Amino acid sequence: MVTSTTTLLALLYILLPASNPLKVALQLERFEQIGGEGLADTSRLRVRKYNRTEYVLNGTFTLFRDVDASYEATVRVAYSTLGNNQFNEYPMKVPRKRFCDMLVDEYVDYQFIWANRTSLPYVARGTREFCPFPKGEYWVRELTPDAGFIPPVVPSGLWRMTVEFWQDDELVVQGRFYYRVTKGLL
Ligand SMILES: *[C@@H]1O[C@H](CO)[C@@H](O)[C@H](O)[C@H]1NC(C)=O
Ligand SMILES: *[C@@H]1O[C@H](CO)[C@@H](O)[C@H](O)[C@H]1NC(C)=O
Ligand SMILES: *[C@@H]1O[C@H](CO)[C@@H](O)[C@H](O)[C@H]1NC(C)=O
Repeated sequence: MVTSTTTLLALLYILLPASNPLKVALQLERFEQIGGEGLADTSRLRVRKYNRTEYVLNGTFTLFRDVDASYEATVRVAYSTLGNNQFNEYPMKVPRKRFCDMLVDEYVDYQFIWANRTSLPYVARGTREFCPFPKGEYWVRELTPDAGFIPPVVPSGLWRMTVEFWQDDELVVQGRFYYRVTKGLL
C-alpha cells in the first residue's frame, strides 16, 4: 500500500509538469553589462515600466566589433532563494562553445522571444553557418520576453541569466538579465 502510494505520487510528480496547470510568468527587473566596454556599449538599454503590470526591455546598444569565430559564449542561470541578490548557479546552461555555433544551434530556437522586437539578425532554421555576428547599432523595442522558454519545474523567485563572451580563454564581457518568475493558476 505504502509502495503503491509512493509510486502513484512519483508518477503524478512526473506527469504533472507535462499537464501543468500553472501559468509561468516572467517580469524583467534589470539588465547590466559587466566589462567589455571596448566590445559593446549597452548603457542605453534599460528595463522600463510599460504599464501597471508590465516591464519591457527598451533602447539601443552598439557592438563595436564583429563577433567572429574567435569568440566563445556561455549562458548560465542562477537563482536567488531569498530574493536578496545572493545567487546560486542553477544546473541549466548552455555550455561554453563558439558563439558562431551557438547562433545556429541555440539562438535559432530562442529568437522567437525577441522576434519583431529587435533589429537583431534573424537566423533561418537550417542555417549551417552564421558568422560573424555583425558589429553595428541594434535596437530593442518594448520587449516583454515570452515566458514560454522557462520549464514549468523551475521555482518562482528572482533569477539571473548571464551571457558571457570569451576570447582566448579570457572572459571579455557579461550581460546579465535579472527577472522574477511567478506562477499562477491558468
Ligand atoms: C521605448 O523606446 C522608444 C524609442 O526611444 C520610446 O518611444 C518609448 O516610449 C520607450 N518605451 C518605454 C516603455 O519606455
Ligand atoms: C499591459 O500591457 C500589456 C501588453 O500590451 C497588456 O496585455 C496588459 O493588459 C497591460 N496591462 C494593464 C494593467 O494595462
Ligand atoms: C514577425 O513579423 C513577421 C512579418 O511581419 C511575421 O511573419 C512573423 O510571424 C512575426 N513573428 C512573430 C514571432 O511575431
